Amino acid sequence: MPVEIIPTGAALGAEVRGLDLSRPLSDDDFEAVLQAWYDHIVLLFRRQKISDDDLIGFSRRFGDLDIAPASATDMAGSQTKSRPEIWIISNVVEDGKPIGALGDKEAEWHTDMSYVDEPPMASCLYSLEIPDSGGDTSFANMYKALEELPDDLRAAIEGRVCNHDSSTTSVGELRAGANEVIDVTKAPGAKHPVIRTHPATGGKSLYLGRRLNGYIEDLPVAESEALLDRLWAHCAKPEFAWTHQWAVGDLLIWDNRCAIHRRDAFDGSQRRVMHRAQIKGKQPF
Ligand code: SIN
Repeated sequence: MPVEIIPTGAALGAEVRGLDLSRPLSDDDFEAVLQAWYDHIVLLFRRQKISDDDLIGFSRRFGDLDIAPASATDMAGSQTKSRPEIWIISNVVEDGKPIGALGDKEAEWHTDMSYVDEPPMASCLYSLEIPDSGGDTSFANMYKALEELPDDLRAAIEGRVCNHDSSTTSVGELRAGANEVIDVTKAPGAKHPVIRTHPATGGKSLYLGRRLNGYIEDLPVAESEALLDRLWAHCAKPEFAWTHQWAVGDLLIWDNRCAIHRRDAFDGSQRRVMHRAQIKGKQPF
């Protein structure tokens, strides 16, 4: 069956039909997927029945994998049950211990693991169990957000560097071993250009990480806060976004270099279990 690419019609995202990810992709099919991914930033594959090894195998076609990020809770249980490359995102608690990270709360707009010097270029998320409603994941196109930035805002960030705080998760919880940030100028994390260039497409995009404890270097804190508030309000506009309502067996792969994402909260009495792999990236420039 030929591979079909069906754009969502929103600012980003496309569905890929005709592929079974439990089998290795041919080089031609992978090339089609890669090009579609560069064009659409987020790809959706529905009705997949894959193991962790298949998820790792598919993700590895894009590059070497990163190990899972640190969470608020001790993840030892879940990681050893699976593989160090697989991050379990779940609200399920077994024997008094969460089997995964992020619980049932809203995860705010963010880019995965941008608080390290070489953040993962992509994340690949596969759904095993989902609640009846809620827990939708939204993505926003940061090429478009930059293209449509008001001139004064663009001038204010041109050549600037932002610190991406590493102390909290995307649901706003302190990571294991982290201290609360009192002064954003001293927050731990990694410094990256606010406007980055995609190494494969050459496109320029906004690269902000997450709002909490962000700091634009060399500015007075009040000025940095005001700029970041304006930038985040702009990035979160609905015209840059697309929202995915999950079904069991959906797999999404997104490009962290030119997209941000967020997740809705959901009813904590229902189970949500997702497995994620993250593909290594290079230092943003
Ligand atoms: C994430 O990778 O940030 C979580 C997304 C989700 O749980 O849908």
